[in-house]
Amino acid sequence: MNVGVLGGGTMGSGIVQVAAQNGHKTVLVDLNEDVLNKSKAKLAKIMARLVEKGKITQDQADATQSNVAYSTDVNDFASCGIVIEAIIEDINIKSKVFANLESIVSKECILASNTSSLSIASIGASVEESSRVIGVHFFNPAPLMPLVEIIPAVQTSEKTLNTAKSLIDGWGKVTVVCKDTPGFIVNRVARPFYGEAMRIYEEGVADFATIDWAMTEIGGFRMGPYTLMDYIGNDVNYTVTETVFTAFYFDPRYKPSFTQKRHAEAGYLGRKSGRGFFNYAEGAVNPAPNEDRVLGQQIFERILVMLINEAVDALFLNIGSKEAIDLAMTKGVNYPKGLLLWADELGLDFVLSKLESMYTEYGEDRYRPSPLLRRMVKSGNKFFA
Ligand code: NAI
Repeated sequence: MNVGVLGGGTMGSGIVQVAAQNGHKTVLVDLNEDVLNKSKAKLAKIMARLVEKGKITQDQADATQSNVAYSTDVNDFASCGIVIEAIIEDINIKSKVFANLESIVSKECILASNTSSLSIASIGASVEESSRVIGVHFFNPAPLMPLVEIIPAVQTSEKTLNTAKSLIDGWGKVTVVCKDTPGFIVNRVARPFYGEAMRIYEEGVADFATIDWAMTEIGGFRMGPYTLMDYIGNDVNYTVTETVFTAFYFDPRYKPSFTQKRHAEAGYLGRKSGRGFFNYAEGAVNPAPNEDRVLGQQIFERILVMLINEAVDALFLNIGSKEAIDLAMTKGVNYPKGLLLWADELGLDFVLSKLESMYTEYGEDRYRPSPLLRRMVKSGNKFFA
């Protein structure tokens, strides 16, 4: 099947590499010729590095590169069986682009979007044959991150879902099917990793370094929340939170934090600006964590039970299966363990009692335990028997 990718930025370039490495004739279209040249040069560099490391042969590198055609003309998508859109995150622009794509491709061609935050239903509404529209949400960097969330909209046909899923499974990716709801699985379930970490800081319980230490040293997470937010960019991460919060009709569970907003406003965006929660300037000395294990354990448990509650509630609302929810967090954001399995191991009654005590203490809706967690504790069942 020929693959089309629209938009040659960060995500589009990565998706092109994945498709081309899997033997597909792939066309990358971007409005901007410079972007295409950069994308082509980037692929050549990555291929050269993989050959150097002995991961692929020169023939494989050549084959991958010759599989990709670069163009500024969407008419070059005419022979594609799927077009994956990865352009600017703007529903008006995406709608126009999808309507135009439909006039170019065949009736069977799947039209997919890599959107992180828009509803697939709204994108589908811009075309005549909306049963062919689906969300395929890759993670950055697309060639390295195994997870792809597959999101059928209310209009999407079973055939479109099966074809898109088996195609991307065939690329060696881990796919999870999820409901067309804000943040899909990963960007919804991960919110407390940032939000609760900021709340803990705001209450004066601990500083950034100590919270990060608790999550990495005690929790086993690859990166602490503040280091991760500095990587993602405080502007980008804040916007994702605000978008999810608004899309959930201002559910307090997703409320953004002033700590992050002020850092973003100050231009403390993270690594990319040289300073975020930590200072990345040469020679800068960042505060050392307070390595008190009792405090660290409290911080870790507070964030973990909030993450678990979010995962349980996603299952309660059928956003994905229990397997999908656990795979999404381990394969999309490298969590050391699936959150539902982690809940089983900790004991669901322990998780519920921690949440209940916070709910009582604070009187805030953000700490409300999921009804499914209460039900499970009542019945004595586990998620994975
Ligand atoms: P980007 O800004 O790096 O790339 C977007 C590209 O689209 C640019 O090269 C631009 O020239 C091109 N473009 C804009 N309008 C166009 C049009 N009408 N026709 C053809 N090309 C056009 O953006 P990025 O980060 O790659 O994001 C793309 C999409 O992927 C967005 O929907 C975003 O929400 C989503 N996404 C982004 C992730 C990330 O970590 N950056 C992760 C997962 C999804």
